[in-house]
Amino acid sequence: MAGDSDRPGAQEWVPDRGGITALRRAAPSCRGCELWEPANQVVFSSGSAHARVVMVGEEPGDAEDRAGEPFVGPAGKLLRRAVEEAGIALEEVYLTNAIKHFSFVQRGKRRIHQKPDLGQMVACRPWLEAELQYLDPGLTVLLGASAARQVLGPGIKVTKQRGQVLTRETTLGDRRFVPTVHPSSILRAGDRRHDAYAAFLADLRAVAAAL
Ligand code: URA
Ligand code: SF4
Repeated sequence: MAGDSDRPGAQEWVPDRGGITALRRAAPSCRGCELWEPANQVVFSSGSAHARVVMVGEEPGDAEDRAGEPFVGPAGKLLRRAVEEAGIALEEVYLTNAIKHFSFVQRGKRRIHQKPDLGQMVACRPWLEAELQYLDPGLTVLLGASAARQVLGPGIKVTKQRGQVLTRETTLGDRRFVPTVHPSSILRAGDRRHDAYAAFLADLRAVAAAL
């Protein structure tokens, strides 16, 4: 659990000034939970601090852990294609994750994605909270249940509320959030893949319309 001596949480590594640049610079030192050790590197975020849209995923995958960039593997390629198809320029999007290190189990040569546990989610939350303090987007898109819970709390139901613009009062004033599914769920949808993609695209079109 968060608070255990081997899982102190990220707070003590998060600089309290200096914007996104300072956060990116400090993140490689984080030892807030045990996930840093088997990973190749931290994957913090990509895109401009002045982006109009922020998109939050779950955690970097195998390809992201090798590249040091979020959303460059199969799910990321699907996401980038859908974003552009929805009429949102990729240069206007800041991409980040609920958790900044790849969590996996090794099976032979393959590294299999593992869903982060609650303690890891809690430990890593200060990074995303700090990012959201500095960013001032028109909208924040939450990709999947992990991102939605990390930002909006456990009450959020992605299947029921996907594609809706939710306004929440924050310490920075009212902010708007749109939950949707994670792009990897489309890759796993089998013969429903076409419909799943169309539904995801419809959610992103709602984002584009609300901007
Ligand atoms: N899935 C995520 O949630 N984030 C990434 O960066 C890549 C895949
Ligand atoms: Fe720090 Fe988050 Fe990485 Fe854990 S996953 S070591 S809290 S950056």
